[in-house]
Amino acid sequence: MPDAEAVKEGKKYYEDVPQETPGFFLKGSGALDWGMKNRLARVFNPKSGRAVMLAVDHGYFQGPTTGLERIDLNIVPLIPYCDALFCTRGVLRSMVPPATTKPMVLRASGGPSILKELSNEQICMDMEDAVRLNVAGVGIQVFIGGEFETRSVHNMTRLVDMGLRCGIPVMAVTAVGKDMARDARYFRLACRICAELGAQYVKTYYVPDGFETVTASCPVPIVMAGGKKIPELDALTMAYNAVQQGASGVDMGRNIFQSDAPVAMLQAVAKVVHDNMKPEDALELYQTLKEKK
Ligand code: R5P
Repeated sequence: MPDAEAVKEGKKYYEDVPQETPGFFLKGSGALDWGMKNRLARVFNPKSGRAVMLAVDHGYFQGPTTGLERIDLNIVPLIPYCDALFCTRGVLRSMVPPATTKPMVLRASGGPSILKELSNEQICMDMEDAVRLNVAGVGIQVFIGGEFETRSVHNMTRLVDMGLRCGIPVMAVTAVGKDMARDARYFRLACRICAELGAQYVKTYYVPDGFETVTASCPVPIVMAGGKKIPELDALTMAYNAVQQGASGVDMGRNIFQSDAPVAMLQAVAKVVHDNMKPEDALELYQTLKEKK
């Protein structure tokens, strides 16, 4: 068993050599079954190979956070503009119109609120319910380095086993504790563990220094989480850099639903992700769409 000392930096990630994707357009997904591939192709656009997911699951541990006070008023109007919605089953059943044809990815872990130790999560839904709800995937938090690291990894591997039985992909979400370093070294470790242990794709944060090594060393697609609200140009630049550096899309929340014009912001992010639009042009698009409204 290699010890921690042996984990040296200065490795070769061949960031400029894309991983081959035989059998399917998505990285590392060629050997998956038809149903799993079909669900992934509902979230990730087969033409661009990328996805714009709208994350609105924050209430599962934060309650009615800013911008999510009223899902029916704040979020339902945004659904036509995203590729997939990442939400809880409670929100799905109570507020998302069942006539929507957009793919849904459900948050499948939970337990502690912001008042407690966040890494102490459990699986919070049955895969049978995910099938009943006709979802395109489920997502679960993994706390590498957190107090309940092993439990969260085990939650993920159990969910992956359940997902494989019915063809539902699992998105692992790398959660970072308050006092932990958010750098490429950490995210390489966290993303790789999630992929090695079976997640079909991984959601992680962008880091300005070395993000391409995070994507290169993760054998399955990565989608970028947005994080705290920042100015629109900065958020568009972050999304642009993430996809240029190997991410297969974004799963953004606050930088969209806390924007002054969420529909415009979502459309601008989609242009950056699917059409490689430069951040400055996307900002201009955002402002035009915002004014039109
Ligand atoms: C993470 O814990 C939340 O569940 C969100 O899905 C995630 O953080 C992405 O949202 P945001 O872009 O607001 O960070």
